[in-house]
Amino acid sequence: CGSSFGLFLSHSLSSVSEEDLTHFRSFLPKSAVLTDAEDLIPFNEDWLKKYHGNSRVVLRPKTTEHVSKILKYCNERRLPVVPQGGNTCLVGGSVPVKDEIILSLNSMNSIRSFDPHAGVLTCDAGCVLENLEVFLAEKDHIMPIDLGAKGSCHIGGNVAANAGGLRLLRYGSLHGSLLGLEVVLADGTVLNEMSTLRKDNTGYDLKQLFIGSEGTLGVITGVSILTPPKSNAMNVVFLSCDSYDQVLRTLEMAKKRLGEVMSAFEFLDDDALGSVLGHMSNLVCPVEERRSFYVVIETSGSNKDHDEEKLMAFLEEVMGDGIIADGVLAQSETQFKDIWALRESISESLNKKGAVYKYDVSLPQSRMYDLVEDIRKRVGSQSLITCGYGHIGDGNLHLNVVFPSFEKKHEEILEPFVYEWVSKEHGSVSAEHGIGYMKPKVLHHSKTWESIRVMKTIKDALDPNGILNPWKVLPEKIQ
Ligand code: FAD
Ligand code: MLT
Ligand code: ZN
Repeated sequence: CGSSFGLFLSHSLSSVSEEDLTHFRSFLPKSAVLTDAEDLIPFNEDWLKKYHGNSRVVLRPKTTEHVSKILKYCNERRLPVVPQGGNTCLVGGSVPVKDEIILSLNSMNSIRSFDPHAGVLTCDAGCVLENLEVFLAEKDHIMPIDLGAKGSCHIGGNVAANAGGLRLLRYGSLHGSLLGLEVVLADGTVLNEMSTLRKDNTGYDLKQLFIGSEGTLGVITGVSILTPPKSNAMNVVFLSCDSYDQVLRTLEMAKKRLGEVMSAFEFLDDDALGSVLGHMSNLVCPVEERRSFYVVIETSGSNKDHDEEKLMAFLEEVMGDGIIADGVLAQSETQFKDIWALRESISESLNKKGAVYKYDVSLPQSRMYDLVEDIRKRVGSQSLITCGYGHIGDGNLHLNVVFPSFEKKHEEILEPFVYEWVSKEHGSVSAEHGIGYMKPKVLHHSKTWESIRVMKTIKDALDPNGILNPWKVLPEKIQ
């Protein structure tokens, strides 16, 4: 790669004026233009309370045509825009850096159609993931994606972030289950790629570009997605292990013995469990004794007896061989939900404790926990909690370090150390949360400069004035 600093990302962008607001009010309903300082607070602040924008206006379009009119105008006026879904982004991508206009999709939340034979759902981008799950449950289907933020995040936000989550192990990434998208480009052009076909090799697959584009290439307004049939039999087990090596051996054994019915394989360490138990007084540790690590395995199949028989045989084998210390198979719907709640509430519980520095990395599974241990040594007693958990079945670790507050001195203990560590192992500095505002400067640890330059070429082609989510994803200086 070249060694000189060549390209600089700089565009001259404008700020919103009273005339701009008057223009937006001329075609949007009154409730779709928020300018009251109090109303703007939750839109300007991210979920972690780490990033704070200074936007003066939130626009809440109701139709794709509204989005098109807004972007056409903003492009002509060089007004920067941050597309926002449920604002659950963990890398500062969903809030303004300065005074960008916030374009919230939360008033575009209608289900457009469902084809029960093909299992294809089409809907507006602002539909909340959990609402889609509830809608599909009545039709005996499920969403191919599930995550702890389901009660707030939008399907459009999931697509824009290429969210992974708890079901990726079974149903793959959104690059596979997304069939079509409707996207409004920076100049207001509506790109109708709302295919409902599974197979369609008619030239470039444009929708793929927008999956994981984090609001920098276009605003997603509609989604067409393949939804799997609901399984008749669901089981979940909670296991404890004394060492990380035992966790890895459990994974190996689960792949062999449960392969075709396994739908999730998650792990958490005892610090992560302690954080949740301290936060959620209604939950208890499912196994008798606390150990160093825990594993959550879910199976979904078509025959309960068959799956339970397999699970019991698996449990007997891993216990008999001393691979796990203890294990519990959920005996009721409540216990099923409680075990999942333990795993899904880790991030919320950490967020309540203090300032959470989050590292979401892909690594070879054998090396994953070494990173947590190296960070524990490095941080010593300075952090409130240092813990590891995540989608180990997908090679994705969440390393979280909680300090009393966000401060440069804390960040400097962790960065660039974590990124350099991951880079040496040929891992990814972002497995599923994206790049946002947090990681453009470390993108080169996981992408070559050649690739980053191609990304910049695509960005310039689709958004030549740089109005869409500026200062996110691409680094300021490109070599
Ligand atoms: P936002 O946070 O609003 O936005 C995310 C990004 O997409 C931003 O860059 C934004 O500009 C852009 N964007 C949003 N909507 C649109 C749109 N319609 N068009 C174009 N761009 C848009 N992530 C995972 O991958 N796996 C997990 O398991 C997971 N669990 C989580 C659990 C919790 C408790 C929380 C708080 C977050 C979690 N996340 C996870 C992170 C986050 O990526 C997801 O919550 C979700 O995908 C974000 O959706 P959202 O609607 O909140 O998008
Ligand atoms: C999770 O897997 O719980 C999410 O990605 C959120 C997090 O990393 O905290
Ligand atoms: Zn995750």
